[in-house]
Amino acid sequence: MCGIFGYIGKREDAATIVFEGIKTLEYRGYDSWGVGCVPLTKSDTLILKKRVGKIGNEDVKDLPKSTLAFGHTRWATHGGVTEKNTHPHLDCTGTIAIIHNGIIENYDTLKKQVSGTHTFVSETDSEVATHMIEVASSAHPFIEAVRSTFLQFEGSNAIIAISQKEHMMVAARNGSPLVVGFGDHEQFIASDASGLLPYTKRIYFLEDNEMAVLTDDAIIILDAVTGKEKHITPTILTWSVTAANKNGFSTFMEKEIHEQPIVLEQCLHRSDIQSIAEAIKNARGAYLIGCGTAYYACLAGTYLFSTIAQRHINACVASEFTYQEEFINNASLVLALSQSGETMDLIDAVKRAKKHDASIASIVNVQGSTLWRLSNLPIPCMAGPEIGVASTKDMTTKIAILLMTAYDIAGHTKEGKQVMKQVLASVKNIFEKDSLNTIHAVANHFKTSTNLFVVGRGTSYPAALETALKIKEISYIHAEGLAAGELKHGAIALIEKGTPCIVFLPHDETYSANLAAAMEMKARGGYIIGISPQQQEAFDAFIEVKDAGTGTIIPNIIVGQLLAYDVTIAKNLDPDKPRNLAKSVTVK
Ligand code: F6R
Repeated sequence: MCGIFGYIGKREDAATIVFEGIKTLEYRGYDSWGVGCVPLTKSDTLILKKRVGKIGNEDVKDLPKSTLAFGHTRWATHGGVTEKNTHPHLDCTGTIAIIHNGIIENYDTLKKQVSGTHTFVSETDSEVATHMIEVASSAHPFIEAVRSTFLQFEGSNAIIAISQKEHMMVAARNGSPLVVGFGDHEQFIASDASGLLPYTKRIYFLEDNEMAVLTDDAIIILDAVTGKEKHITPTILTWSVTAANKNGFSTFMEKEIHEQPIVLEQCLHRSDIQSIAEAIKNARGAYLIGCGTAYYACLAGTYLFSTIAQRHINACVASEFTYQEEFINNASLVLALSQSGETMDLIDAVKRAKKHDASIASIVNVQGSTLWRLSNLPIPCMAGPEIGVASTKDMTTKIAILLMTAYDIAGHTKEGKQVMKQVLASVKNIFEKDSLNTIHAVANHFKTSTNLFVVGRGTSYPAALETALKIKEISYIHAEGLAAGELKHGAIALIEKGTPCIVFLPHDETYSANLAAAMEMKARGGYIIGISPQQQEAFDAFIEVKDAGTGTIIPNIIVGQLLAYDVTIAKNLDPDKPRNLAKSVTVK
């Protein structure tokens, strides 16, 4: 969702730093952007630049030299996509500016308290904050003005305010993520840690109801409720700077798909598998929860735990978990899966489970994120920064972790590693030139289709759901993933001559039944794309994926990612920034 980047310190190109910063957050999704700075030369007010649409080839060379600036990418909620509604918002004097993420649910009531004496120029909920701070700062120091304003907000919010007079930036959060970065005589703030990587690896994620006061030389963390200073220990990011670059690939998604052989290999050397296994073994009732792609990893987990470890684990979409929470108690384990660790539906579900005294374990890619901090047992996914909106390497890494955990629970840790070695061999094969060319040709074949189906059974069912999700979210082709057995219960009615039908056909216990589904679709004119270790008569197109035993779901999903990616490029669309989607969904 919206992105925030702020800078204060020794450099005089603060506006440019901030502009580059919000560019790194573009992947979060936005429809307008703005930068505000305090000019070094004498000026009565802050200077703003706001634009509707994408950043594209724009720059901020027209903004003055500055050592204090912040910027925002807006995803419209209250008020349309207009320059007036774009952040930053100024107070009536032009010396206080704010940017805001989230929704001030009681803004209407708050606005009535100040609207008589203050002029509102936008239709946003956010603007009320700047006028409230203006009122409060006439009687109090700026920090106190921001604090008292923030405490009146209802809903999930993150706010940053700049004072020209006091030359500082003050931030507060409740719900929406904010991370500060400690530099050498310079300080940073952003809604996401990856944007800070070029400048500093010493970071701190603000907790709910914490404030940060950023000045040239320091960042002070305060408890927003008491106003008292808190002593915190910064986290040191282990990600490398290049990990957040495209590294020669044309898009982040392409790079992240191609990183999977390396990232998956690292899973073999993990030392934390046993701790998840122990937590599951000790629980009376375990629940895997996640959203979107992360949920499909949860679903894959249920198959792996049941077949490998003979253990039943429930999988639930996080936004639906609330309606099952009566079963949760102090013996339950909730295993939450997330890339960002900030997805609001998931965070909400975890908080509710905590109220029932459940233990929370999580596999999360962004260390230090909200989910990470809420968990009794946070396990780092270690897939490295994932910038493309569509989740790829994070998901396959999570499945690898679940696979090895299942073997550990079963007491067959070594066998788990053997399976992972088969997975790696199969994955490496996909990235051979011939295989990539085949996938490319198949994707080109269905680039003009408007409808397609993906089917599988067993672990190929979550693979089918995930492949369909990837195809629809970035190529905008309507794709439906389903359990092959469900075809004849409805969806087969939609198959006509030429409809692309992707069938996962690994050599496992699902083989014959899946093949039967392929034949049923072919009989109705479907164009059958078989993903399997061997060619079949039923296939109109064939993509070879070598079997990797219980881990075959991983290479199968990677082929699904590549098909989605290639068809998107063939349609001249940008896979990194699909329409209407955001990388981190921090609103409900
Ligand atoms: C799809 C995708 C989303 C995310 C979902 C959860 O490619 O990326 O479906 O998986 O929004 O996000 P995280 O994993 O950050 O909780």
